[in-house]
Amino acid sequence: MSVKQYIHPRNKYKRPPDYKQLAVLYPEFREIAIMDFTGKVRIDFKERRSLHVLTETLLKHDFDLHVDIPADNLNPAISLRLNYILWIEDLMTHSKLEMEKVTGIDIGTGAVCIYALLLAKIYKCHMIGTEVDKGSIKHAQKCIKKNKLQDLIEIITVNSDRIFKDIVQDNRVYDFSMCNPPFFESEDNDFEKVEKVLPPRNAPTGNDSELKTEGGEVCFVTKMIDESVEMGDQVKIYSTMIGKKTDLASLRRLLRSKNIKNMIWTEFCQGHTTRWGLAWSFLPQNIINLTTAPVIRKHGKSIVGSLKNYKTSITFPVNDKFSCIDDIISFLKVTAKELNIKLQDIPISENNFDSWACQVTARKRSWEHMRRKRRLAQQSALKRVKGENNKCIEANTCAEETSIETGNSAKNSDEESSDKELRDKNGPLLVCKFWVEAESRNNSQDIITQPDEILRIWMVFENGYGGLDALHSLRQYLINKLEVKEKILDNPSKTKRKKKRVSKEC
Ligand SMILES: C[S@@+](CC[C@H](N)C(=O)[O-])C[C@H]1O[C@@H](n2cnc3c(N)ncnc32)[C@H](O)[C@@H]1O
Repeated sequence: MSVKQYIHPRNKYKRPPDYKQLAVLYPEFREIAIMDFTGKVRIDFKERRSLHVLTETLLKHDFDLHVDIPADNLNPAISLRLNYILWIEDLMTHSKLEMEKVTGIDIGTGAVCIYALLLAKIYKCHMIGTEVDKGSIKHAQKCIKKNKLQDLIEIITVNSDRIFKDIVQDNRVYDFSMCNPPFFESEDNDFEKVEKVLPPRNAPTGNDSELKTEGGEVCFVTKMIDESVEMGDQVKIYSTMIGKKTDLASLRRLLRSKNIKNMIWTEFCQGHTTRWGLAWSFLPQNIINLTTAPVIRKHGKSIVGSLKNYKTSITFPVNDKFSCIDDIISFLKVTAKELNIKLQDIPISENNFDSWACQVTARKRSWEHMRRKRRLAQQSALKRVKGENNKCIEANTCAEETSIETGNSAKNSDEESSDKELRDKNGPLLVCKFWVEAESRNNSQDIITQPDEILRIWMVFENGYGGLDALHSLRQYLINKLEVKEKILDNPSKTKRKKKRVSKEC
């Protein structure tokens, strides 16, 4: 499926607008329309004026909304705005809230207050738009008046260092908040850099105060999240659009670090661009459960599938202990330290933001010793409990433990010396790659799905004198330690395990 096919199914612009019809109906559109020799009508997307006229015409034609977009302001491309609005509608429906009864807040509403206009016009939502820029506020108020939507939309001037604090009143509850934050950092010129490296498909629109903010979108949304913690459930669902995939990953991490687990993310796909939506709530999940809300997510193909080396995996559904790949990464790092295994991060493309890879080097079967130690610890704990009322038994147990430990350490040292011999001859016991991925279990062809996520730890064999046996015994150790034995989704017996022991040249 191409990116365009992931546009929201209810988005009017799933099919491109009929430019010929627009040219016939609207003289201002006719002025910017270009007819080629086959009679096909198109517009020049590299012309800022053409983009503004297209948006104004579509708003008029499809929504009966009458706006002028000021020449130096951002062109609010409607297809993307609709994708976000339709997701808000999905979230409201999922939360059993009726669109015509809800009140929403649009943070940074802009000169055209596009989200507020569309939401008020299409659904009759009550909207509060916030803005810092005086010129934008004046123009937005003009747009509201021109469209006779004063009863439904209110614009509030806010301080640039605040997000919700100037608007959320103590005694009021709001159903949702939304935001298209300024994406770029005011210091480094990301914006110009993007323009220089990639000639834009569309003319750039918007001015610095609309597009740039100190610290970029991560700082802006971080402030939003911090203030949302203070506001709590006064806003039922907080949401924001995010411009960079890597920012989505760090903001999800930030929410988790604040113990906000009732959250969800989606993708807004349109034309050649993808943006992301992130929503969170402080309401208990029996009232609003965002983790099961409808989403659109492109299914990426795992890179691991194309690797030629022998691979096996540990796959299980997300759970309370392992709710995302960050939890697995921390688990693997701690475990590797305990086992004295070397883990080395492998940088991967930022497009694979829901995956992580590392090179693993084990010099000995330290996990097998750990398993034995754990078993012994469990046995002795059991004996201690049994012998609680009988000090005599406890004394025996201690003696026994000592002898077991001694026996064990003797065995360990035997193993270690044989390990050492082999190591000296053949290098490490096991070298493999771990590739951690979060993926959707949903194989349905529906564009809108429920986020049924699974976590997968791929283990890709590289080399080592321990061969595949070492890889599989490490896998078994990790399964036990992860405590996911019952939930495991892949069956190791089904993975093509070569019968032959893999030699050191593998
Ligand atoms: C990227 S523009 C989005 C405009 C409009 N919502 C849209 O989607 O086309 C970001 C807007 O946020 C405004 N803004 C910046 N800081 C703000 C703040 N602290 N509170 C409210 N608005 C802010 C800017 O002036 C700008 O109009």
